[in-house]
Amino acid sequence: MGIKYVNNELYVEGLAVSKLAKKYGTPIYIYSKNTLESNFHAYKKGFGDIDSIICYAAKANPNQNIMTILAKLGSGADIVSGGELYRSLLAGIKPDKIVYSGVGKTAEEIEYALKSNILMFNVESFEELEQINLIAKRLHKKARISFRVNPDVDPHTHKHITTGKHGSKFGIRYEDALGMYIAASKMKNIKIVGVDSHIGSQILEVSPFKQAALKLSKLIDNLEKAKIFIKYIDIGGGLGIKYQKSEVPPSPEDLKKAVMSVYSKYKDKTIIVEPGRSIVANAGIMVGKILYRKVSGDKKFIIVDIGMNDLIRPTLYDAYHNIIPVRKTSKKPVIVDIVGPICETGDFIAKDRKFPMLFRGELIAVECIGAYGSAMASQYNSRLRAQGIVIDGKKVTGIRKREELKDLIAKEIN
Ligand SMILES: Cc1ncc(COP(=O)(O)O)c(C=O)c1O
Repeated sequence: MGIKYVNNELYVEGLAVSKLAKKYGTPIYIYSKNTLESNFHAYKKGFGDIDSIICYAAKANPNQNIMTILAKLGSGADIVSGGELYRSLLAGIKPDKIVYSGVGKTAEEIEYALKSNILMFNVESFEELEQINLIAKRLHKKARISFRVNPDVDPHTHKHITTGKHGSKFGIRYEDALGMYIAASKMKNIKIVGVDSHIGSQILEVSPFKQAALKLSKLIDNLEKAKIFIKYIDIGGGLGIKYQKSEVPPSPEDLKKAVMSVYSKYKDKTIIVEPGRSIVANAGIMVGKILYRKVSGDKKFIIVDIGMNDLIRPTLYDAYHNIIPVRKTSKKPVIVDIVGPICETGDFIAKDRKFPMLFRGELIAVECIGAYGSAMASQYNSRLRAQGIVIDGKKVTGIRKREELKDLIAKEIN
């Protein structure tokens, strides 16, 4: 079960993609429930023998149906906005499994999270801490917090998804952490419960996680000397996935082993992990139709109905997504750019890619779009956001309706 060819036809679980495209139209996000669940189980199994909480990073794909599937498996959530808190609670995620990261939490969002009794705020600046303390005081509450500490390690990934190096807007400086914890320990409406770091995304080796752990462990030891005792060690998310054949991502168990080689000495602590991409990315494909083909200069183009408004990762992060024909072909691959219909040169899915010059009307599938695909979709060029469906065996569940023209102006005032 999953996403694979059966007799040269691409299937998502028990259903042929060509039939789904015919019935529901294109472009369309199609998810395999089985793959989603087995990715979550890999974390459950990998971290199952230690005291741990898996907090799915909602930003990767906050769709209510996907969040509810994960909530039913016992997932917590890593959130970065009041909107994600709303979605998480609605999906049935327990507040005591919700951690709140992000550099710009507003007063309203902090109040909402305090009233919802979330597990902890991952605080990213001293001014944010003061703001949380003030709001907690007004609400007669004690806010549980950890600091997101920037350990200054290089995760060897794209610069736009590197977050744990000096000069990043995320977290507090490692050198400032002890002083900030001591100051926080004196605030009446703050309860220190954890330490946190998130060093980046699409990380394909575990050594950066271990380097971060070594630094944070020194901090934890210094905190204990200052009589500040924490319960939670949040190791962030960021485990990579196999976008390209050459990429060999570590497993959740490898990640656990790497961090526990440092943290196993703390017998009384709970490890929190915040995976997004590695839970949901390879559970989804985006299926589109070839609209036109053309030649410009010495370049060949295939124009499809998937735009950068549906999948922005290639242009935003130079991201590679494998593209396959929905029906296998004996046509020889040529070098083409596969591009969308949007009026931007940056609207492409693949550049200089070896791909068969299929005919107009034929279907392609873009792989691994489950994470940061629909989550980053927009209506740019007044395009309608695409439909999403989840396949469970032979059962289809619609998880997002295709937008209609009236949705374009639904919130506009004339
Ligand atoms: C604080 C935090 N936690 C977790 C994640 C999830 O990362 P990934 O999807 O790479 O696992 C992110 C992603 O940006 C993040 O910012």
